[in-house]
This record gives sequence, C-alpha cells and structure tokens, in this order.
Amino acid sequence: MKQSPCLPASNPESVPRFRGIIREAGRGDISALVAIHRESLGGDFLVRLGPSFLKRVFFPALFDSPRSTLYLAEEDGQPLGLLVGRVGLGGVLGEALRYHPVWFFVTVVGAYIRSPWLLYETVGIVAQLWWRRSQPADDQGDMFLIAVSESARRRGVASSLIRHVMSAFREAGIHSYRILAHAENAGSAATFESVGFRERTLSRFAGRCWRELALDQRFAAGA
Ligand SMILES: CC(C)(COP(=O)(O)OP(=O)(O)OC[C@H]1O[C@@H](n2cnc3c(N)ncnc32)[C@H](O)[C@@H]1OP(=O)(O)O)[C@@H](O)C(=O)NCCC(=O)NCCS
Repeated sequence: MKQSPCLPASNPESVPRFRGIIREAGRGDISALVAIHRESLGGDFLVRLGPSFLKRVFFPALFDSPRSTLYLAEEDGQPLGLLVGRVGLGGVLGEALRYHPVWFFVTVVGAYIRSPWLLYETVGIVAQLWWRRSQPADDQGDMFLIAVSESARRRGVASSLIRHVMSAFREAGIHSYRILAHAENAGSAATFESVGFRERTLSRFAGRCWRELALDQRFAAGA
C-alpha cells in the first residue's frame, strides 16, 4: 500500500505519552484549529480552498451546526490535536453554504480562479458526499478531520481524542461510529484500527480511493 506523506517517523520508547486534556473547542480556538489542520493536512481539499475558507466558512459552520462538535487536545495549554464528531453521515459543506453563503461563494470562487484543477476534485468530493448521504444514518456517529501536530505524534493524542468522542457519542445514545479517509492514508487507518475500528468499504470517486472504517458497539450496549 502507498504510504501517506504525513506519516510520523517513529515512536521511540523515550517519547512521553499524552497527559493533557480533551475539551470541546470554541470559536476562540479557530486560529489554533486552522493552524493544526493546515500543518497536518496541507494537501487536503479544504486546506487548498484557502485559509479564509477555513477561518470564515468551514470552522464557523462546524460551530453553527447542531450536528457537529469540535474537540481539541491540549497539553500545558498548548493545542496539539483536533477531531470532529458529527451525528449522521451528511457532509458539513451544505451547512457551510447555508450558514455563510457570501464568504462561501467568495472564498470558493477565489480558490477555483487560483487553482482550476480543484473543480475536478470537487466532483469527487460531491460524489462521495452524495454516496454517504444516501445511507440511512442518524444513529451513526461520524468522525472526521483528525489531525495532530507533527511534533506531538505517536504519543496517543489521536487515540485519546477518538476514545473521548466515542464516549461523548455513547452519552448521546449513539453506539456505532464511522470514519472516511483517503485510502492511501495508512496512518489514519492504523490509528482508528488501534482503537477497534475495522474496514467497512473501499470506494472510488473521480479517481480517488476512499476507505471507510467502522466500529459498532450496539451489541455491547445491549441495544
Ligand atoms: C493520523 C494521526 C492523526 C495519528 O495521530 P497520533 O496522535 O500520532 O496517533 P496515536 O499516537 O494516538 O496512535 C495510536 C496508534 O495508532 C497507530 N498509528 C498511529 N499513527 C500511525 C502511523 N503513521 N503508522 C502506523 N501506525 C500508526 C499506532 O498503532 C499507534 O500506537 P503506537 O504509537 O503505540 O504504536 C496523525 O499522524 C496525523 O495528524 N496525521 C496527519 C493528518 C491525517 O492524515 N489525518 C487523517 C485524516 S482522515
């Protein structure tokens, strides 16, 4: 399998485990969230739409959305990682357009003018969102945008975030979780597998392969 360019190097025994806290992020954290997202997922479609799209459209829409909650991992007051938990499998871009139409239009059109190639990628993203929308899923907890600062990797930050989000979902009565990521991102798959997720589907949209992993704890919950 092709390796992700953002794989952390190694996990020497001397590296201390994560001993910080996980908390819900607020609007005052947007700069930190954007910084970690851009550092960790530089080639991501959303990042390539530009920092203004992230600051003025995408992250504000996540805070506006009744379905999404953003979590931040912090150690000694230093933000290290983030993860979004979202009820259902519908993508957030529709909400972003609804809540921030003017900035959505300005930033996305600006990105297409700068990089017309993004239009082709948009086709794949829309196809992928459409495919997920077609699955009945209000009882599913979706997770996305997991990212940890490069210097804090392989210390258990991401797995702590995932466990925290699963427990928040459980408190809300949701016991089945999904994650969709680029299939070549082996580090992301390994991280979710390390907490019990398993591959569910492998799909191709506009030339890009996506791997969906799932974890179902409904039986464990007695549901
Ligand atoms: C993927 C990512 C979030 C993992 O964060 P992390 O905090 O380093 O992960 P953890 O320390 O919690 O890893 C837990 C376990 O997952 C597995 N794992 C994590 N990263 C791995 C990698 N790159 N390769 C192989 N296994 C990995 C290991 O089993 C690890 O346990 P170990 O360190 O004791 O061996 C981080 O590498 C990252 O931000 N990458 C760039 C952004 C990205 O690709 N996000 C996914 C988008 S869907």
